[in-house]
Amino acid sequence: MTTTITSQDLQAKFQTVFGEKADHTFFSPGRINLIGEHTDYNGGHVFPAAITLGTYGAARKREDKVLRFFSGNFEDKGIIEVPLENLHFEKEHNWTNYPKGVLHFLQEAGHVIDSGMDVYVYGNIPNGSGLSSSASLELLIGVIAEKLYDLHLDRLDLVKIGKQTENHFIGVNSGIMDQFAIGMGADQRAIYLDTNTLEYDLVPLDLKDNVVVIMNTNKRRELADSKYNERRAECETAVSELQEKLDIQTLGELDLWAFDAYSYLIKDENRIKRARHAVLENQRTFQARKALEAGDLEGFGRLMNASHVSLEHDYEVTGLELDTLVHTAWEQEGVLGARMTGAGFGGCAIALVNKDKVEAFKEAVGKRYEEVVGYAPSFYIAEVAAGTRVLD
Ligand code: GLA
Repeated sequence: MTTTITSQDLQAKFQTVFGEKADHTFFSPGRINLIGEHTDYNGGHVFPAAITLGTYGAARKREDKVLRFFSGNFEDKGIIEVPLENLHFEKEHNWTNYPKGVLHFLQEAGHVIDSGMDVYVYGNIPNGSGLSSSASLELLIGVIAEKLYDLHLDRLDLVKIGKQTENHFIGVNSGIMDQFAIGMGADQRAIYLDTNTLEYDLVPLDLKDNVVVIMNTNKRRELADSKYNERRAECETAVSELQEKLDIQTLGELDLWAFDAYSYLIKDENRIKRARHAVLENQRTFQARKALEAGDLEGFGRLMNASHVSLEHDYEVTGLELDTLVHTAWEQEGVLGARMTGAGFGGCAIALVNKDKVEAFKEAVGKRYEEVVGYAPSFYIAEVAAGTRVLD
């Protein structure tokens, strides 16, 4: 369960590190994705939700042009100092490249950030777990800057700046889902987002007697970035092959029938599989929203299962750890559905589990995982929360 960190706790930490009081304290959530995986860069739909695990911050404006950062997660790195006037990627600046990127793109968009700041951050999203600790940090810094420099920012612009940082400062070619979920999240709501138009609806997440259990493989997704970019490229090639006969820009524009009729244009078996996943996952996401709104949680669970099967066999982004968790989850009593969540290759899976069965579930899945993989997974209950915000 989440340990609640209060504004007072953050103030105390800030005081210890920087010797003064912070101007304000902040929180930025992580996210789970219920369904709609690897669809966001394919112009499809996603269905994520912001959660109570996330990144906390405390910040104070400075008079000079120095940025000082301290992370409670990397205390050994101490205070990392960066000149405000020279914001470019530097490997040795470690995690502060995320804040640097956000501030750089805010400036580039014409927002005036003319003095430095001291920033303390602490995250309780397990590192590398696929619950979007990086997007959480990006949005946190965006909201800190918005508050401290009194910027007039549309939340959607901040979401886009987070994505820009990821794509063009850090170098990961991700879609917009994570930043959108974290920036736009709402209490007890999932976000049904069309990544093509950015139109979205906040859908009440009424799970009745069930909870979403997050299952962490505790395997960092080291390979994720290169494989991620590879999948993305495969989908783009498939689109260009389909364009021989179809007037489309993304796979998200196709329904199953159009895909079946024209998949012969794709000249490689693997690419056909990747494209089929993108097309069908988009359809499943649409169905899942309908199931949730109709209170049909069994139907929702079946779609989660089908999503995992497709990610395992067609998109091939799961692996032993995620498959062991999910396959074992499927066998347990009280489980309506389970699937990997996020980019894959490690990180986390989610399961929709009856409240009364959670303890037995954790025990059985944990035991089996340890037998197969050799070390223990971790479990958390996902509590769906609002987006990035000022605490105090
Ligand atoms: C990562 C990316 C997202 C999305 C997912 C897969 O989390 O950051 O943009 O592509 O993987 O659905």
